[in-house]
Amino acid sequence: MNGCFITVEGGEGAGKSSNLEFVRRYLEQQGKQLVVTREPGGTPLGESIRSLLLDHRNSEITDDTELLLMFAARAQHLAEVICPALEQGQWVLCDRFTDATYAYQGGARGIPRQRIADLEQWVQQGLEPDLTLLLDIPVQQGLTRAGERSDPDRFEREQIAFFERVRAAYLEQARRYPHRYRVIDASRSLEEVRRLLDEVLAEWLAQR
Ligand code: TMP
Repeated sequence: MNGCFITVEGGEGAGKSSNLEFVRRYLEQQGKQLVVTREPGGTPLGESIRSLLLDHRNSEITDDTELLLMFAARAQHLAEVICPALEQGQWVLCDRFTDATYAYQGGARGIPRQRIADLEQWVQQGLEPDLTLLLDIPVQQGLTRAGERSDPDRFEREQIAFFERVRAAYLEQARRYPHRYRVIDASRSLEEVRRLLDEVLAEWLAQR
């Protein structure tokens, strides 16, 4: 595969959406042909699965069902969007990927790491992001920034301890995979975060 696969991760209130937009513009200015997508979702089927996963009325979803739905959406996303784009030499910028599964279903829900790793191997067959930008922010600060949601989804209804486990698991992923992870201090002001992203992307592109 010739293209490049970049993922953006982060907890509640880390500014993921607006910073992803910044990364998109940065890469496009560098002349990269970009496909911007997200998980869970990214395909019609994946977006339907996303609706099931986020709907807070689906309180009966078990942890294993949640995990399998994440990977079902991912399998479709890889087949329909991500792999074809990479094979054509395009760059893929994805709002969350399997690191989110390790953080939410692994760290926060408590599903054993090996079970996730087995599904990852099956579905991805060794494909991993070339670069993962983790927007890291202390949980309370992130929740304050995110503010009150009018109709919080099934994940947003979780308690603070859940988000603490999400954050810890993301940081553990960053320690395990330093070759592809760049941790950005998202507790700083938007301008400072953008400056950090600018630096990280410039350095990473120069090494390629
Ligand atoms: P979003 O808020 O970034 O759009 O993501 C939707 C939710 O899905 C978010 O709360 C994190 C969660 N999620 C998982 O629990 N596992 C995953 O593998 C992914 C991709 C997302």
